[in-house]
Amino acid sequence: MIDPSYIAEILIPSDKLQARICELGAEVDRDYAGQDLLLLAVLKGSVLFLSDLMRCITTPHSIDFMATSSYGNAMESSGVVRIMKDLDQSIEGRNVLIVEDIIDTGHTLDYLVRILKARGPKSLEICTLLNKPARREVPVPVKYIGFDIPDKFVLGYGLDFVEKYRNLPYIAVLSPEYYT
Ligand code: IMP
Ligand code: MG
Repeated sequence: MIDPSYIAEILIPSDKLQARICELGAEVDRDYAGQDLLLLAVLKGSVLFLSDLMRCITTPHSIDFMATSSYGNAMESSGVVRIMKDLDQSIEGRNVLIVEDIIDTGHTLDYLVRILKARGPKSLEICTLLNKPARREVPVPVKYIGFDIPDKFVLGYGLDFVEKYRNLPYIAVLSPEYYT
């Protein structure tokens, strides 16, 4: 499946991911009980997270997708973000919860939050599976965090290394010899 030499260590095994995601789902249920809710997933990294998270949320909700890309190389965020795919619907007056795979420098979400706020949602919050606090360059207000992780390049469970290995059911640290 994956050349074992790519993996330095398994950081978060599948059972820990699933258990934490269901805790997040319960928190979302508690906070949005009886309210309208739109889960806005950021492609492509958050698709596995979204699909497991939504199964742990009992509050009726809808889902939609946006795709962003940042200029720069594959492993560094440049701070310049482009929208590759926009939402299919208006978010005016809605409770929007952004579902993201990982917050690194914060540039992607900083940009996304600014453009989405301008569309007049009733509320706008962020739920990220992974957070790398040591790498933050711009502050991002995050309501739900699955795991704080160290400053290492991770792959699996939706996250890619040069577009591959998103299918791994766990989060692994890339071996340092493959860092660019
Ligand atoms: P930010 O704009 O620097 O916060 O970066 C956000 C995006 O960079 C994420 O949505 C990922 O697509 C990508 N990214 C950041 N760190 C990693 C990592 O460790 N592994 C895989 N992708 C990452
Ligand atoms: Mg992403």
